[in-house]
Amino acid sequence: MALQIFRTKHVTSEAAGLDHGLKRCLSKWDLAFLGVGAILGTGIFVLTGIAAATQSGPAVILSFIIAGLACAFAALSYAELSASVGGCGSAYGYSYAAFGELSAFIIGWDLLLEYGLSVAAVATGWAGYFNNALTAIGFPLPEILTKAPKMGGIINLPASVIILLLMGLLIMGVKHSAKINNAMVVVKLITISIFIGIAAFNVHPENWQPFMPFGWFQTLPDGKTTGVLAGASLVFFAYVGFDAVSTAAEEAQNPQRDLPFGIVTSLVFCTIIYIIVSGLLTGVVNYTELNVSSPVAHALFLLGYDWASALIATGVIAGLTTVMLVLYYGLTRIIFAMSRDGLLSPFFSEVHSTTQTPVRVIVVCGIIISIIAGFIPLGDLAELVNIGTLAAFVLVCLGVIVLRITKPDLHRPFKAPFGVLFPVLGMLSCGALMGFLPAITWLRFVMWLVIGLLVYFTYSMNNSKLAEADDAF
Ligand code: ALA
Repeated sequence: MALQIFRTKHVTSEAAGLDHGLKRCLSKWDLAFLGVGAILGTGIFVLTGIAAATQSGPAVILSFIIAGLACAFAALSYAELSASVGGCGSAYGYSYAAFGELSAFIIGWDLLLEYGLSVAAVATGWAGYFNNALTAIGFPLPEILTKAPKMGGIINLPASVIILLLMGLLIMGVKHSAKINNAMVVVKLITISIFIGIAAFNVHPENWQPFMPFGWFQTLPDGKTTGVLAGASLVFFAYVGFDAVSTAAEEAQNPQRDLPFGIVTSLVFCTIIYIIVSGLLTGVVNYTELNVSSPVAHALFLLGYDWASALIATGVIAGLTTVMLVLYYGLTRIIFAMSRDGLLSPFFSEVHSTTQTPVRVIVVCGIIISIIAGFIPLGDLAELVNIGTLAAFVLVCLGVIVLRITKPDLHRPFKAPFGVLFPVLGMLSCGALMGFLPAITWLRFVMWLVIGLLVYFTYSMNNSKLAEADDAF
């Protein structure tokens, strides 16, 4: 049994008769755009405001820098593994190849949390801008239909419905297309440029005082955390998605060279944008005014630029739709890979004969995510996504260190510089960010992991396809 748990993927999926049959069509710039498409979203357009108003104040810019640094260390580890180990299904795929089945399952299970809940979280961010747009054109929804019960409503209906619409799109086979994604990235960049262009000329430096009204870190009586470091743990959500580039390994023209490029380029680019936007946002209006569901548009509205506010809201609605599509698609891809490998029920890897899409997994995920998006508020969702993602990053960094020791001769087309310094810093910084999250988020995360381990030991371990293939060799 112990051997089974630490079983590594001696045979690749292809050798086990599990050919992916995907076309290698993505260039290095497509990958970078894919990253930017998945990264820029609710984090910058919504959470910046929440974090500034409730956790960091104008120092939210520091929160972005701290979270960005942790991601940069982790990204170097991702880049090294994606170049040297390969495999599909994101960190799940190559951790299977590198570290063994149990670690792979845990990372995969963790990624289900990350991707599933981030789709729901982005849907609630989307709904904030959508509700504002409806209000602006004179058709506001009743407030109780725009908020989760915890926020004083009954259901966040638009967030729930958009997921069901995307479910329909994915079932019909509207697959992730590099061209659509690239167009949407351009829309998002234009939206951000309009904001920067206007905000740059309306900064009132007095808004940056006090710079750190909530200090570095403190736990409040209700168990919530606040301060710049807690803010960093929240805005970390804005960086979630660069790892989605690694889910495209099987479609990359030259994965060993292009994946590190795509991961690092998209991350650096988005970090620069976050620093500029968060600095400007807190410079144009007082941070206390930003705890709203559409802070970027709201700030321009407060400045009197109604037309720009409406334009930005429209751009964000379009831009966030692609973030949801990429992450929803990534989620189905990971479940599909885990199911194909026998770690989850084969029920999920059936492809519908007419639409040629994995309809079952799309529908099951869609219904669950739609319910979650309707009933759980954005902040709670984002924190849970973050803890799951940070845990995956810690494991990926650890993986690099383990492989440097156990397989020193492995061909590494990309290698994180300065020995294991960056992976170690990645583990420490991502681990620290996990520590700044509230206790309730930890509890929910541990419960998720316990359920995962139950699934593994009662089902996955005995049904692994790669185990069967290994035994046959
Ligand atoms: N990073 C993505 C966003 O901020 C998930 O929406």
